[in-house]
Amino acid sequence: MKGIILHGGHGTRLRPLTHTGPKQLLPIANKPMSQYCLESLKDAGITDIAIIIGGTGSNKVQEYYGNGERFGVKLTYISQDAPRGIAQAIRLCKEFVNGEKFVVFLGDNILKKSITEYIQRFKDSDASASILLCEVSNPTQFGIADIKDGVIKKIIEKPKDPPTNLAVTGIYLLTPTIFDIIDRLKPSWRNEYEITDALQMLLQEEYKIIYNMVTDYWKDTGTPQDIIHANQVILSDMKPYFEGKEEEDVIITGNVMIGSGTTIKNGSKLTGPVIIGKDCQIGPNANIGSNTSIGDNTKLSNCHIENSIIMSSCTIDGDFIIKDSIIAFNSEITRSSSPNKVFLLGEGTKISL
Ligand code: TTP
Repeated sequence: MKGIILHGGHGTRLRPLTHTGPKQLLPIANKPMSQYCLESLKDAGITDIAIIIGGTGSNKVQEYYGNGERFGVKLTYISQDAPRGIAQAIRLCKEFVNGEKFVVFLGDNILKKSITEYIQRFKDSDASASILLCEVSNPTQFGIADIKDGVIKKIIEKPKDPPTNLAVTGIYLLTPTIFDIIDRLKPSWRNEYEITDALQMLLQEEYKIIYNMVTDYWKDTGTPQDIIHANQVILSDMKPYFEGKEEEDVIITGNVMIGSGTTIKNGSKLTGPVIIGKDCQIGPNANIGSNTSIGDNTKLSNCHIENSIIMSSCTIDGDFIIKDSIIAFNSEITRSSSPNKVFLLGEGTKISL
């Protein structure tokens, strides 16, 4: 079977983080979110993978993943000229798929459990598609499956009156039948070719769609809050390691993952789970609270950071408390001796002082 990772889209809900690159490259526990998808496919034995790219900074995707060799997979890049919908992105892969069954992973979906057993069940079945469903507390925000006696009756996008709370996750196991369906789809009110419409059309034309329930963690990381939540969950599962150096008077509790070349300087406190990348300087007097990820080459001193993602090459120095935040690559936050605050902010920046 072949795999497809969708790496395009608008990413409007994650602005300004998506002004300079695709959301799927934003790090969760110091790894781009789409890398979790790639590893999930690879773990299930799928190594022939296409990545659909498009939009701002899509060259960064190719720079990071290259031909896939570094990740033990073979990658093909397919460009989507504009974000015309998930179904349209899938349609671009007809030649790549070449008549086989295939798996599509939305590059911003994090699934903790292995997909191996779902794939095996689909391979052995005569179904035209298989979807993964997950119970959610806010079903009006998702594509929802209506199920009776274990059979999917209908798939409805963001229903006002949801028949169930079973959301269709962004992992689709498909057969080439979907291409003919997509060719006959009409764009939705938001002018996109919707995967939920394609699945609903399959049902209407009496093709069989089977499903599996995801009872473990699944997150569609479309918003900053979703990313911070996924970061917490992934960190809580990581095994500790310490490849850096620690000065005197440092207190470390809980699981910490510290990269090589990183120094934890005196008077600092780390409360795990915390991941810190390579070549960072933490301290003096930095207090890094739980559920925090810090990228490579970052310098943090005198500050208190908690439940946050600080990406690589940032500098934060000052007696600030930063919580529930995402700070993108190369940002700098320092204290000014003047009572005036000085800002140089990109479009769409959010600050709460
Ligand atoms: P969404 O999160 O539904 O949409 P989006 O990325 O445009 O973001 P926003 O709603 O914040 O503007 O997209 C789901 C996934 O599918 C995501 O990984 C991006 C990808 N995608 C494409 O690759 N091509 C597309 O045309 C669209 C719409 C999405």
